[in-house]
Amino acid sequence: MKKILVTGGTGFIGSHTVVELQNKGYEVVIADNLSNSSENVIDNIFKITGKKPAFGKVDVAEKDQFFKFLSQHSGIESIIHFAASKAVGESVQQPLKYYRNNINGMINVLEAMKEFNIPNLVFSSSCTVYGQPEKLPVTEQSPIQPALSPYGNTKQINEEIIHDFLSVNQGLHCIALRYFNPVGAHPSSLIGELPLGVPANLVPFITQTAAGIRECLSVFGNDYNTPDGTPIRDYIDIIDLANAHIAAINRMEENKQKSSLEFFNIGTGRGLSVLELIKTFEEATGVKLNYKIVGRRAGDIEKVWADTSYANKELGWKAVVPLKETLLNAWKWQQKLADN
Ligand code: UD1
Repeated sequence: MKKILVTGGTGFIGSHTVVELQNKGYEVVIADNLSNSSENVIDNIFKITGKKPAFGKVDVAEKDQFFKFLSQHSGIESIIHFAASKAVGESVQQPLKYYRNNINGMINVLEAMKEFNIPNLVFSSSCTVYGQPEKLPVTEQSPIQPALSPYGNTKQINEEIIHDFLSVNQGLHCIALRYFNPVGAHPSSLIGELPLGVPANLVPFITQTAAGIRECLSVFGNDYNTPDGTPIRDYIDIIDLANAHIAAINRMEENKQKSSLEFFNIGTGRGLSVLELIKTFEEATGVKLNYKIVGRRAGDIEKVWADTSYANKELGWKAVVPLKETLLNAWKWQQKLADN
């Protein structure tokens, strides 16, 4: 059984990826400092898969504890690195927290690959590196634009750090997955997104509004240059996203890479406006959503969606879950949370 280290494995994307890895026969080791998640997630992963991942409450950004943990888990062949701070607004307020956590964590992961002979890495990057692309859909060749937040900047800087490191370390490989907007929850409603406080992202805000936790959803601007005036994004199901990581691991295991560092867009290829997403949510769940149009949110991109043809062809991966199913899963998860 191949052993994989998943940093940040109890988080939203991490936990769903752990489930899919275990379902495909991988042995999973999680390092997570639980800064934005809970250890209960491990029990719920076990309820879904019948397998308990090894777990350490470990801060990947702290080299001593991270390396100590790794020295206790031999035979790791690949790392999927999720552990990072991810709130865009908070990153503007506390830039050093983001640079310290996200950059140190990345450096430690790369040093660990060398120190512990771990050849393969999947890095969780973001479509935020493209900024507002000139041409849509956006391909992997689109130019990188100046980051709009310290959070976004850490994704760009980390891509560069990986590039520089791999160019002088033969035999080590990385696939950076540039996620579009991950949404949804596991169909079992045992794991999902657990936003701290008031959600900044659209779908958790929608489900909390539908559940009556929030009074009203604010739609940030309807004066954009889009058909209905609201911004357009590419919303991708969390299970589809999780499976992209397995495709990336397989590609490296089979040595199918064209270069030591590759980038892939992980989206559906379909752009949806905020109003279209709200409508789809209402249709999928039968719940009428209370919303109002307010002013634009600073830093928001007008429109972005993925050209996924390169990922489809090279990774042999494709997003397949219909959006209605995704939104229904997000809603079921929210209802389950409210019951507890
Ligand atoms: C943001 C970040 C992105 C990050 C992602 C996940 C920016 C520019 N991008 O993406 O880097 O990877 O979060 O954390 O900050 N919206 C509303 N009302 C709400 C919330 C959102 O109308 O209450 C709208 C937004 O204006 C946007 C869309 O919904 O048009 C999606 O927003 P969100 O879920 O926050 O994701 P992004 O802004 O696309």
